[in-house]
Amino acid sequence: MMDQAYKEKILLRLTDKVEAMIGKIGDKSPHVAREDGVYDDMRHSWWTSGFWPGMLWLMYDVTGKETFKDAVWDWDAKLEQCFSEHPVALHHDVGFQFLPTAVIKHELTGDKEGLRIGLKAANYLAGRFNIEGSFIRAWNTENAVGWAIVDCLMNIPLLFWASRVTGDPRYKHIAVRHADTFLKHAIREDGSVCHILSFDPETGVFIEPIGGQGLSGDSAWSRGNAWALHGLSIACRCTGEDRYLQAAKRVAHYFVAALPEDHVPYWDFRADAIDGEPRDTSAGAIAASGLLELAELVPAVERRIYAGAAERILFSLSENYATWAKPEHEAILLEGTGNKPADQNINVSLIYGDYYFAEAFAKLNGWNHRIF
Ligand code: GLY
Repeated sequence: MMDQAYKEKILLRLTDKVEAMIGKIGDKSPHVAREDGVYDDMRHSWWTSGFWPGMLWLMYDVTGKETFKDAVWDWDAKLEQCFSEHPVALHHDVGFQFLPTAVIKHELTGDKEGLRIGLKAANYLAGRFNIEGSFIRAWNTENAVGWAIVDCLMNIPLLFWASRVTGDPRYKHIAVRHADTFLKHAIREDGSVCHILSFDPETGVFIEPIGGQGLSGDSAWSRGNAWALHGLSIACRCTGEDRYLQAAKRVAHYFVAALPEDHVPYWDFRADAIDGEPRDTSAGAIAASGLLELAELVPAVERRIYAGAAERILFSLSENYATWAKPEHEAILLEGTGNKPADQNINVSLIYGDYYFAEAFAKLNGWNHRIF
């Protein structure tokens, strides 16, 4: 288990690392870094564009250093331009993009533009709700009109926020209906989770689970399981509803039980021959930050179960998968897996892995604002 001195040491290392990243990353919108340690520059409409600015807001909030705020200030305006792209390139992942930019900017500084842009994103997300099927449509492709995906449990906090700041419960109603659909169809008895749910978009009738970025419809894609664990914990925090807490616990128990000896997940817990399969450090970081969230929601006697599991994952990530010994590397974590079935971004650094690793260490050091 980590002691307090270790937690503080890693937060200080992260502060220095993110400060150095500002110089290296510049105006890029980082998504993936490969062996050369250089982050790419992804289009702003891509779902990951909020994580680098989110890391800067996080570090600003933790340290109070203006360097971080100066580097991040314009990101909400840059991302807002994606709404004018034709055809609209944004989809349900506006939560991942605008919570760590416009929304946190408004929350930390009171900036009115952040409020306006955050609500624009929330209206867009609410507009993707399928009333008959009680789900938020995920992607824009023709074959995906009736698809909802587990990652969206991390986008609905945008709707909880919109209800809080406007006093209008409609956003929250949509978030709750979507989360309940996932409780019904995606979270299995054993706590494992599938990636995609397919519905008839006309009648709303559930058709089948689909593997998506996981191995198959009945496998357990580790990052999808991490999104569920973290997202359901947030749904409980935002609504106080026990059903989300119980579901988050179930997913957490499955996730922790399925971890290999070094506590860092492989890309799918049900991949056939786990030896030799790639890890996904991002799934570990997302789950660890979610486990810390869950630890805050349970009675004190249960807290160490979840906080302890989070700390074991984070210790292993920090000791075995971080770039501390490679100061030129632009990323923080190695060995992430983006999309194994599509053979894309395997054994790379992923900006969202870096973000949730930093978020988790901020939580371990008492940071109590929230971006998601
Ligand atoms: N939201 C897509 C992913 O986790 O890869």
